[in-house]
This record gives sequence, structure tokens and C-alpha cells, in this order.
Amino acid sequence: MILITGGAGFIGSNFVLQWLAAQDEAVVNLDKLTYAGNLRNLDSLRGDARHFFVRGDIDDPELVSQLLREHRPRAVLNFAAESHVDRSILGPAEFVRTNIHGTFTMLEAARAYWAGLEGEAKQGFRFLQVSTDEVYGSLGADDAAFCETTAYAPNSPYAASKAAADHMVRAYHHTYGLPTLTTNCSNNYGPFQFPEKLIPLVILNALAGKPLPIYGDGLNVRDWLFVDDHCSGIRRVLEAGRPGEVYNIGGNSEKNNLEVVRTLCAALDELRPAAKPYASLITYVKDRPGHDRRYAIDAARIRRDLAWQPAENFAGGMRRTVQWYLDHQEWVASVTSGEYQKWMSANYQERGAA
Ligand code: NAD
Ligand code: DAU
Repeated sequence: MILITGGAGFIGSNFVLQWLAAQDEAVVNLDKLTYAGNLRNLDSLRGDARHFFVRGDIDDPELVSQLLREHRPRAVLNFAAESHVDRSILGPAEFVRTNIHGTFTMLEAARAYWAGLEGEAKQGFRFLQVSTDEVYGSLGADDAAFCETTAYAPNSPYAASKAAADHMVRAYHHTYGLPTLTTNCSNNYGPFQFPEKLIPLVILNALAGKPLPIYGDGLNVRDWLFVDDHCSGIRRVLEAGRPGEVYNIGGNSEKNNLEVVRTLCAALDELRPAAKPYASLITYVKDRPGHDRRYAIDAARIRRDLAWQPAENFAGGMRRTVQWYLDHQEWVASVTSGEYQKWMSANYQERGAA
């Protein structure tokens, strides 16, 4: 079996669902269920003995060691993190605790567990760290895309916390020989994404007739990847990646934020027509402090060495995503009460779009 952390979040839950659809190997899923974790994402696995959910913190050394001792996984995949840049700007402490110290705790527990393994079990064991392209900093319009040797230059507290964790993972391989793998992926979108991130936020605001907040001039560029493709990339890296190696994963799909929002509005105009075009709700608001201008991933290594490539394109993935949110209003209602409303006021009121 494998142990994954953060498997009730956006990417983690998509990963668990994809994993168990593709094979029978069981998953132990450790998740703290913060505001971003949601067991509803895993409703379709109710009663499935291959999925074993544990509510807990990756920064709890006793719990993590106990899970490793009891379940003896062949791999640990660390998805758990605080993941929203704007939250890291308003409150960085939790990012330091979970993303840095939590990853350290996972590494320490994995190191002790791995040291006690023998033979094939020891040779085959992997610790896979799920990381982000934000660790590489910001690109200018004409700069080459991030590759695995691009120097780290994280700009937000979120990016810095992920960078620190990546450095610890690297050190555990270099110093102790722990068979680690690191993936640095670009922006994901798709089902089950918490609506604090641009794409689900715009879909839900549009449906509610609320402003669609565009930070700054709307020309910041991200490299968008449909979440299923990120998950298939991680599975491929786990299967065939070289221990100690880093793999960038990206969609080769650079878009500026205005293009993204206009694409969403056009899809909504078609699928759920309203009195006025949804693009009329676009509202420019105060920029994100330190807002990175452009991210772009060079995914040549994973394409060449592991024969991975994305299956979905931007137009198709965006349409599927809009349709998913239209079809899952109950899920939307379950995540947009209480805490979500507080976050929306905290982040947008002072920007003039709450
Ligand atoms: P998310 O915020 O949707 O989910 C995070 C999950 O981790 C939640 O289920 C939460 O409950 C859990 N969690 C948080 N703190 C925890 C703790 N201390 N102990 C145990 N569980 C905890 O995040 P996501 O977008 O699914 O991102 C998953 C991973 O992928 C993160 O490591 C993130 O940095 C990375 N990543 C995300 C993207 C993206 O576009 N979303 C892109 C590249 C990499
Ligand atoms: O690049 C990978 C990263 O992508 C992941 O590591 C992060 O976990 C994930 O959250 C994402 O970070 P971003 O900051 O790029 O994503 P977000 O959806 O928050 O913002 C995307 C772009 O849209 C960014 O340029 C900021 C802008 N934006 C965002 C929001 C929430 C707006 O213009 N308005 C908004 O209301």
C-alpha cells in the first residue's frame, strides 16, 4: 500500500480517486481536514476497503511513525500543505508549520522507517514530495521556462515554505540516501478545487452575479494543467522516477489571467446563459503584493525520460471544469458557508470587490 498526505484536498483527492480507479493497491490517507480538506471529495469511496482515512497532522511525529509501522507502505506521497498564496500573505505562520516543519516531520519518520526495511522493500521504498513551480520565482516575458536546474527564488511566504521543504527533501537524499522524488508542477485546475483559487472563484462569483476580481492589470501569466494530468504525472514519477531526481510537470499552456477569465465567461455564456454576458462582471482590483508576473514549465525531462505528457488541453479542461461546478451545486454549497465567507471578506473587502 501507499501512504498519502493531504488526500482530502483538491489534488490529493483527485489523486486517490485516480489511483484506486487504476489499480487495487490500497491507500492510507492522512489529512488534518483544514478548511481546504473535504471528505465529500471522497464520497464515491465510501465502504471501499482499499481506502483507509486517518484524520491527523503531518506534523505529529508519533502519529506518522505509528502509521508507517502499522501499514508498512512502499511509498509516502506528501501532498499536504497550506496552498493559497493570498492566505500566506495574510498569515504566514501556518505555512511555516505545515509546509516546512510538517515536511521535516514526515521526512524524519520516513527515514527511521526506511532504515528498518531490508532487501527489496528497502530498495523499492520512495518518498515523493509534491511541490510547485512557484519555488523558481517569476519570469520575464521573454525568459526561458523553468527547468529542473533553474535556481530557486521564491517570492511569497507560500513559495518560500515550499522551497524550504524541497531543500530538506534534497538534503535527506544527499545526506541519508533516502530515496526521494520531487515534482514541481504548474497551476492545476479541475473538480474539487476550493473556490479561493482563481478558476473556481470566478465560476462561482459569475453564477452568483458577483464581481470577477482581477488583480492588477490581469496580465500575469500561469501555465495551466488539468488536475488529472498532474496526478498521472505523479504516478509515472513514482513508478519510474530516479531516486534523488526532480521532475517538472506542466501543461505547456501559458495564459494570462484575463484570457483565463474570459474563457470561463464564454463557457458559462454557452452552458448557463444569463441576461448579460458574464464578462461584464470583470472588475479590476488591488494587486496581490509581490505578485509573480509569469510562470512557465519546461517539462522536457518527464516527457523524455518517463514518456509522460498531458492528455487534456486547456479548452477541453476548462469546459469540463465549468460543467463540473454546474453539476455539483451541493458540493459547492458545502464549502461556501461560514469560514469561506470570512475569507472572502478578509481578502476582497479592502480590494473593493467583496
Ligand atoms: P489544498 O489546499 O486543496 O489541499 C491541501 C490538503 O492538505 C487539505 O486536504 C488539508 O486538509 C491538508 N492539510 C493541510 N495541512 C495539513 C497538515 N498539517 N496535516 C495534514 N493535512 C494537512 O491543496 P492542493 O491545491 O490540493 O495542493 C496539494 C499539493 O500540491 C500542495 O503541496 C501544493 O503545494 C501542491 N501544488 C499545488 C498546485 C495547485 O495549483 N493547486 C500546483 C502545484 C503544486
Ligand atoms: O503555480 C502553482 C501554484 O498555483 C500552486 O503552488 C498554488 O498552490 C496554487 O494556489 C496556484 O498559485 P497561484 O497564486 O498562481 O493561483 P491562484 O488561483 O491564487 O491565482 C492565479 C492567478 O490569478 C494569479 O496571478 C493571481 C490571480 N488572481 C487570483 C485570485 C484568487 C486574481 O486575479 N484574482 C483572484 O481573485
